[in-house]
Amino acid sequence: MTSYWHPFADMGAVEASGELAIVRGEGAYVFDSDGRRYFDATAGLWYCNVGHGRAEIAEATARQLRELAAYNNYGDLTTPAASELAERVAARAPVPASKVFFCSGGSDAVDSAAKLARRYWHQLGKPEKTVILSRTSSYHGVNGFGTSIGGIPPNRDGFGPLLDGTRVERDSADSLAETIDRIGAGNVAAFFCEPVVGAGGVFPPPEGYLEKVQQICREQDVLLVADEVITGFGRCGRWFASERFGLSPDLLTCAKGITSGYVPLGALIVSPRVAEPFFQPGVMWRHGYTYSGHAGACAAALANLDILEDENLVERAAVLERELLEALAPLAGHEHVREVRAGTGVLAAVALDGDAALSARVLRDLRSRGVLSRVLADGALQISPPLVSDRADFDALADAIAGAVDSAVVTREAGGEA
Ligand SMILES: Cc1ncc(COP(=O)(O)O)c(C=O)c1O
Repeated sequence: MTSYWHPFADMGAVEASGELAIVRGEGAYVFDSDGRRYFDATAGLWYCNVGHGRAEIAEATARQLRELAAYNNYGDLTTPAASELAERVAARAPVPASKVFFCSGGSDAVDSAAKLARRYWHQLGKPEKTVILSRTSSYHGVNGFGTSIGGIPPNRDGFGPLLDGTRVERDSADSLAETIDRIGAGNVAAFFCEPVVGAGGVFPPPEGYLEKVQQICREQDVLLVADEVITGFGRCGRWFASERFGLSPDLLTCAKGITSGYVPLGALIVSPRVAEPFFQPGVMWRHGYTYSGHAGACAAALANLDILEDENLVERAAVLERELLEALAPLAGHEHVREVRAGTGVLAAVALDGDAALSARVLRDLRSRGVLSRVLADGALQISPPLVSDRADFDALADAIAGAVDSAVVTREAGGEA
């Protein structure tokens, strides 16, 4: 073992059982240091939309780094890459004439959105509108606001008092309406909502839920924040899931698919309604990161958007959505599978009928069958492959999962090692 402290890791277990070093990627596959090939069932961490090993992105980034790696974008400064990327992202935004603010990842985008939502109401003379609502099972990153409002309890435990966040029932528009009434709309700044809950377990929205939520937010004058860190840039068969569900969010957070993970980058898309009070002379939103608009990261994103467009990967995602559902659905009939959630985007979860030890065994067995996945907050397997995967990959994935569950159950029943 080296000095490396892994993110979200039981380091004692990692020290005991060792690391898996991934050294190379190609399309929907990655390779470990022993040359073993794995299907990347999670697209890294929901990000590698265009697939691994894209020389175009590496070359565009290298060109930019040679020319100018970065320069700060505070005040009136910009770089051509940052300005062009803002235009390209705004052109795809669900609300026309949006502004685009850059940061370094999804957690930054979420915290920027929370601060801007509160600052917006302050600017409008309603400084008491500070409460931020979110959903149970939601994941909004690990920065201060994101940790506070997240809906996965273990991620909030043990940090002492966090910011005031209030969670509403995941799929209930009534719960949102009642909570706003209870707290008073005059105290509520925003409602944060993943169009499809991701890390909490892949839960697509029930029919009509998001539309109702949008209506409630409009009627109650609460800002709607779509957290599209996972769903943005094609994963739900549209550039943004908001478009699919008819949402015009006041703020939209994104990251991951904006560069397909080649370089870290996040963005906050701001509708004209929220941006307008800050685009007046003498007004400043005192917020920004050293790497806001980092030229190298923006160059990577531009090359990534070129690939998404040139290869019609967003349209392809709409086809893959159905193929993934068809391939995985039969697993629901497996004796030890509790549920398969799929059918909204290239996103799925296979929930096993067993405890965490069973999920861990299945993951280990999947590796030996050439598949890399991970376990989500509710114990289900995460399936969110690159948008360059195909039906044959999905069929092989379903076979591997069925085989891994069978052998994990046999090991459990034989009293084998966890
Ligand atoms: C919906 C959502 N929001 C925010 C984040 C945080 O993004 P990051 O890990 O890039 O900080 C994630 C990460 O998975 C996410 O899924």
